[in-house]
Amino acid sequence: MGPKRGVDLQDQLVGEGRQLRGAVEIRGELRPSRRLRDLRLEVERLRRRPHLGGVQSPGAERVERQLLEGETTWRTHGVGALSPERVVGAGVDGHESSLIVVGHVPGDIRPPVNAYDFGGRVALVTGGASGIGAATVDLLRSSGARVAVLDLNPEGLHEDVLGIQGDVTRSADADRAVARVESEFGRLDVLVCSAGVGGESRRTVDVDDGEWRRVFAINCDGTFFCNRAALRAMISRGYGRIVNVSSIAGKEGNPQAAAYSASKAAVIGMTKSIGKDVADTGVLVNCIAPAVIDTPILGQLTEEHIGYMVDRIPLKRVGKPDEVARLIAYLASEDLSFATGACFDVSGGRAVY
Ligand SMILES: NC(=O)c1ccc[n+]([C@@H]2O[C@H](COP(=O)([O-])OP(=O)(O)OC[C@H]3O[C@@H](n4cnc5c(N)ncnc54)[C@H](O)[C@@H]3O)[C@@H](O)[C@H]2O)c1
Repeated sequence: MGPKRGVDLQDQLVGEGRQLRGAVEIRGELRPSRRLRDLRLEVERLRRRPHLGGVQSPGAERVERQLLEGETTWRTHGVGALSPERVVGAGVDGHESSLIVVGHVPGDIRPPVNAYDFGGRVALVTGGASGIGAATVDLLRSSGARVAVLDLNPEGLHEDVLGIQGDVTRSADADRAVARVESEFGRLDVLVCSAGVGGESRRTVDVDDGEWRRVFAINCDGTFFCNRAALRAMISRGYGRIVNVSSIAGKEGNPQAAAYSASKAAVIGMTKSIGKDVADTGVLVNCIAPAVIDTPILGQLTEEHIGYMVDRIPLKRVGKPDEVARLIAYLASEDLSFATGACFDVSGGRAVY
């Protein structure tokens, strides 16, 4: 590897610090001349770290390739306790290529995230008091949106969030919530329909009429009533983004969840229809299909039911509400411009279509 010039380590680290929203420190450095076997081990060990590889500079990738080809070696600068670490780039002092690994200064550990600007936008999130809805409310609010929540129990909300108590199974509550948002905030740009229930884990022969209708009323009727109410407000202004929270169960069906799976399939079908229906209005309507996500809704299910779902996820873990909220934020943003009536997966690889 020949001499390399033009990479200013100081600038690079300051840039990384900005992205990481905190100071960074050098955790280690790779330089020429050590055995290939040791290098490979080191790089593979680092790759397993949660944030390594997420936002690598092209220079870092090149140097990592060179490392694996055995041209450089590893020299530590006192690697301390585990914290998120990332390869950030190549080149120190203009003399030789290096692989620089940085970690957050302890006390400010935040993974890098994409930033959204929802300044001036108004969002209504159903089911926003808990789980996926609550994570979405936090993200939209912290990205500049004014946010209202329609929930059976709109408690524990941030003081800036407008809480509206209501039941999505009653169309009058959906209409009232949209009217309230418009009168308080002057407009409605985003609707996220996250209110939902898992239903009881029951064999089909044990599902009574009441449970079937309850699950459908909340997951399917509720989503429709809120979509219809929001569309009336959005179409007149020529702009809107609607995100309905369906489920992988709506695509694949989970055992002991006929009502839930069918109601979520209905949400996908409804979204595909409405998306086309309003395609000429400036309103884009999409849905998401999460696999199992770590929220209070799991309390409604049996261990067996949850185990079945996790077993089918290639990433072999439960998802986090934040991970779902980020997809919702994209679908709720102006960045989304060429998709409507679509279903987006956030299923750790479970979805196959
Ligand atoms: N957590 C998962 O594993 C998972 C997976 C796929 C899809 N989903 C879907 O995501 C959505 C959110 O689920 P979560 O996991 O955040 O659950 P959660 O139980 O944490 O939150 C659901 C929220 O909906 C509200 N709600 C329930 N019924 C309502 C009604 N009739 N009117 C108004 N509000 C009502 C609840 O009060 C609660 O705040 C649901 O539609 C769920 O089916 C969840």
